[in-house]
Amino acid sequence: MLKIGVIDSGIGGFSVVKGMIDAGIRAEYIYVFDNKYHPYGGKSKGELSAIAFMNLNMLVSRGVDIVVVACNTLTSSSINELRKMFYIPIIGVEPAVKPCAGSCIDIVVMATPYTLKGEKLSNMLLGYTEENFYYPNLDNLAFIIENNIDDREYMSDYLTSRLKCYSKCDGLVLGCTHYNFIVDIIKTILPQVKIFSSTEGVVRRVYQCIKQLKLSTNDDSAICIIPTNGSLPISKLNYLKNYTEMDITVDDVDI
Ligand code: DGL
Repeated sequence: MLKIGVIDSGIGGFSVVKGMIDAGIRAEYIYVFDNKYHPYGGKSKGELSAIAFMNLNMLVSRGVDIVVVACNTLTSSSINELRKMFYIPIIGVEPAVKPCAGSCIDIVVMATPYTLKGEKLSNMLLGYTEENFYYPNLDNLAFIIENNIDDREYMSDYLTSRLKCYSKCDGLVLGCTHYNFIVDIIKTILPQVKIFSSTEGVVRRVYQCIKQLKLSTNDDSAICIIPTNGSLPISKLNYLKNYTEMDITVDDVDI
């Protein structure tokens, strides 16, 4: 039985889970839905490392084979430390800057405040011309998506005000997994941009890992959510069931 642990501050990482399921990775997905500490984007490195450690511990105690940190912010702040502390494969998500820069010239990078100022992104940008990259101020966008997923009009107004000035750009990088849920809106505001998400890269790495470790996948997939504040609103659970076309169970957080 393959068990894949997944972490995010909310629904964002579900875009990665859906990507894995759609790509045929049949597993029991155990999803730490960290609504206790949402949003991550404005937190400090110290806070994020403590959160990452706690959530990893929870997944390891549930016997997962692989962990996917389905969050750019937590990957940026803590993945290197996590890999030193835990002896299981830990796969992170990183903004798809390289593939985007391979085919586009003027690029909008959408990410949380932490990811934008993090060392990981600056290292990734080394060697590229600085003037070709644009970073809209999207301070609380992950929070807005998390709490207004059905209010497309509200999100559209917010995004129009932040993105419409980039009509000359031809590429756009989604540097936060929550943003996968607003691709349709981005496309209406900036129809000319080619959009790059990190999901495909993660799916590829999970497949490699399964092969290297000779892990066998399951006959079917199952998803179990562990909400860290103890509960998940029924409307959100139903949204995620619809989104994944899967039944989802909700489990208690381990104390
Ligand atoms: N989905 C996350 C990310 O990819 C977290 C966003 C947040 O909680 O601020 O960065």
